[in-house]
Amino acid sequence: MERLNAASIAEIDRIVAEHRNQPGPCIEILHEVQDSLGYIPFEAMEKIAVATDTSVAEVYGIVMFYSQFTTEPKGKHVINVCLGTACYVKGAQQLVDRVQNMTGAEVNGTSPDGIFSLDATRCLGACGLAPVGIIDGKVYGNALLDNSFMNAIRKLKRAEEKAR
Ligand code: FES
Repeated sequence: MERLNAASIAEIDRIVAEHRNQPGPCIEILHEVQDSLGYIPFEAMEKIAVATDTSVAEVYGIVMFYSQFTTEPKGKHVINVCLGTACYVKGAQQLVDRVQNMTGAEVNGTSPDGIFSLDATRCLGACGLAPVGIIDGKVYGNALLDNSFMNAIRKLKRAEEKAR
């Protein structure tokens, strides 16, 4: 297992310390760690378990139960493609294939260069815009025929490559 860097450990300690004397479940702490680090490393689960007087297994169970939590580090940019029925019928799989080809990220994985994560999601409640893609929280409708979605990914890729 890869060790966390000191900054990440310090960030986990800060978040846990902030919530140490607050009653209630550890879910708020998990949210903060996820927002701050982009994922929930095992070390965070251990520290949260100690701070909330629970077991690591219980914290792990919560992390696994809620789909918004992830134990894997995400890429710098997170791309979601809806694979709900309406989006699937309108070509979401083709969209996934295009994103994979452009970024090198597998579905529910991260590109080898660490720039992009690609997540398949369930219905986002925007079926009228099918197929729907999201980049870093920004929603793109009709993403197969309208080039905005793929163009936005292309632009991010170029910018990241330029910055290296
Ligand atoms: S199926 Fe994709 S938004 Fe509903």
